[in-house]
Amino acid sequence: MKSQLEEKFAEQYQKNADAVYFTPGRVNLIGEHIDYNGGLVMPCAITLGTWLAISPNNDGKFRFKSLNFNEQTEVESNVLHQKNGGLWSNYPIGVINEFIKDGKEISGLDFLYFGNIPIGSGLSSSASIEIATAFAINDYFNLGYDNLELVKKAKRVENDFIGLNSGIMDQFAVAFGEKDKAIVLDCETLKYKMVDINLGKYVLAIINTKKPRELADSKYNERVEECQTALKLLNEEVKLNNLCDLNAEKFALHKHVIADETILNRASHVVKENDRVHLAAKALNAGELEEFGRLMYASHQSLRSLYEVSGKELDTVVDFCIDYEHVIGARMTGAGFGGCAIALLEKGFEEDFAKHLTDYYVARIGYPGEIYVSDIGNGPTKL
Ligand code: GLA
Repeated sequence: MKSQLEEKFAEQYQKNADAVYFTPGRVNLIGEHIDYNGGLVMPCAITLGTWLAISPNNDGKFRFKSLNFNEQTEVESNVLHQKNGGLWSNYPIGVINEFIKDGKEISGLDFLYFGNIPIGSGLSSSASIEIATAFAINDYFNLGYDNLELVKKAKRVENDFIGLNSGIMDQFAVAFGEKDKAIVLDCETLKYKMVDINLGKYVLAIINTKKPRELADSKYNERVEECQTALKLLNEEVKLNNLCDLNAEKFALHKHVIADETILNRASHVVKENDRVHLAAKALNAGELEEFGRLMYASHQSLRSLYEVSGKELDTVVDFCIDYEHVIGARMTGAGFGGCAIALLEKGFEEDFAKHLTDYYVARIGYPGEIYVSDIGNGPTKL
């Protein structure tokens, strides 16, 4: 991929690339919609990702081109920029703003991106572009930020520039991923542990529903607000920083302060999902994959009925998995409202699974999804 991108860079910019970087996407194994509630999450980086080639220019501009999108953008260096509609280049421009706000003298760079993460599929293509940009700039201009600082910058881009009130999980996962390891991240303290993913006789299948994520951002922000409402109500009775300060037992003692059924359901999901991640981390450590799979199904059920971020397409995939004897656990991953599901699938059944799932899915949804078997990969690197 590196040499192909270098070739394209030379074609597009009529000069050679100076450096090429790779940044992964991510899947979240379990712990959904709890990062912004101070919970524990368990994502890992995947080997799909974003390649980025850069080279300096002499006219003090930043130029962004991508092999995935037709649009190209050019902006002045060293001034803060506004968000421009729904352009993909808002992500790198937001990152540039973060460095400019810090007073860093960065200027004159041409960028060419290529990504093989399906866009809008819930595998964090946007976090991957953000971290790719931040990592490359930090490296190229020798700015000396550590990865956690880059993660915080990328999260600010998402929250303040793009307008999605997301948590820190995606940017963290993309920046801290390690081959064959899951990250068990406490989103309140940002303490984390790397846990070996030993899937034994199973592989991690990723199933893209290919459902366009209409209104996903506004529904996401609505969930964040619902959690804040629950937290406010609970705080009338018990002092909490985050919903995930409560476990299910303690939540049961205080939940009567939440009269609204929807808000109660949202909070129940958050608290129980957080408990499930603690159990899942133990199960993974002990090699109890069937228990891990059971927790995945329970997580999906909760996201479907209590948190209401699944949908017909994701549910169809998980319903198929429940009845397919060579899968031991499946769930939606990421924000939901479409996007991808993941499944623990017995090795050797990849083709059989793909065929039968596709038939089942097409019969109910009307078009096929896409199925990948993914490796767990590393965080950002200079190639
Ligand atoms: C999106 C957000 C994350 C997280 C997940 C749901 O991917 O960017 O911060 O909230 O949804 O778990």
